[in-house]
Amino acid sequence: MSLPPVDRVSITTVVDNSVDVLRADEKVARRWSVLRARKFTDLRAEHGLAHHVAVTRGRETARIAFDFGLTAESMTHNFRELGLDAGAIDALALSHGHTDHFGGLLGFLSTYRGRLRSGLRFYGHPNHYVARFMEREGTRVFIGRLDRADVGRWDLDVVDVPEPVILGEGVLLSGEMRTPEPYEAIPPSLRMEQAGALVQDTFIGEQTLVAHVRDRGLVVVTSCSHRGIVGICRHAAQVSGVGKIHAVIGGFHLSGLDAERIDRVVEALRGFEVDYLVPQHCTGAEAFVQLAQRMAKELVVSSTGSTFTFGG
Ligand SMILES: [Fe+2]
Repeated sequence: MSLPPVDRVSITTVVDNSVDVLRADEKVARRWSVLRARKFTDLRAEHGLAHHVAVTRGRETARIAFDFGLTAESMTHNFRELGLDAGAIDALALSHGHTDHFGGLLGFLSTYRGRLRSGLRFYGHPNHYVARFMEREGTRVFIGRLDRADVGRWDLDVVDVPEPVILGEGVLLSGEMRTPEPYEAIPPSLRMEQAGALVQDTFIGEQTLVAHVRDRGLVVVTSCSHRGIVGICRHAAQVSGVGKIHAVIGGFHLSGLDAERIDRVVEALRGFEVDYLVPQHCTGAEAFVQLAQRMAKELVVSSTGSTFTFGG
């Protein structure tokens, strides 16, 4: 497979764990700051992630909503605050079945049902629709189950993506990534329901959105990177047929993990020679500090409402 290039990809962070309305534009980031909004903007941050991805080819721009935050309140509020247009969305996609990524979905669909185009595709995977739990030291917490029928009820075409696929919008969805790095094991605390039992979660259906920006390389848009950010980047390069990774944006899921794992991941990311790195959501403070120290030139700070643009 060879992923055709696009001219530009702009990723607006609709929901992320943090917000800083005083932060100035930097590198590839344009901020929804007090100065830009011309008011004291009230964007909401929460433990969740939602991307709005705009893909430009020539004079055409396609838009994909990729993940939907933890709550519909934050998702719809920020969407409105940022002036985004639900009527201009061409496709919807969900990375995996955790509530902090799909929690805002049904409320978003309900709020914008009059604006969204009919028959929009909703890309996911059968593994997204199973019950999920976090279990540690004898405590088990239910962390969500998205009902496929609840999604289909909103006049959407619900599509499964087991294999990599190039969407009409000009980006690739990863499909199943079956070759994780040995040191990027999924913590045993993450469980899923299978045939009536709770088993180690695999996140086998986890989707990554990948764009190939002309003359720059790949832009890898990840969510929680449960299957491992290094493996995800390698998979993106392999299935797209593009070796150079220009930028990686999303949650790297290193929060709470040990220093050795963080060290190995940061070293691998350095080895990719990316131009920009935008750690978000579940990356964690320790990993962020490491990235800030060891990849200062490439690092771009995230904030809810920021737009990161790659390509001319
Ligand atoms: Fe997450």
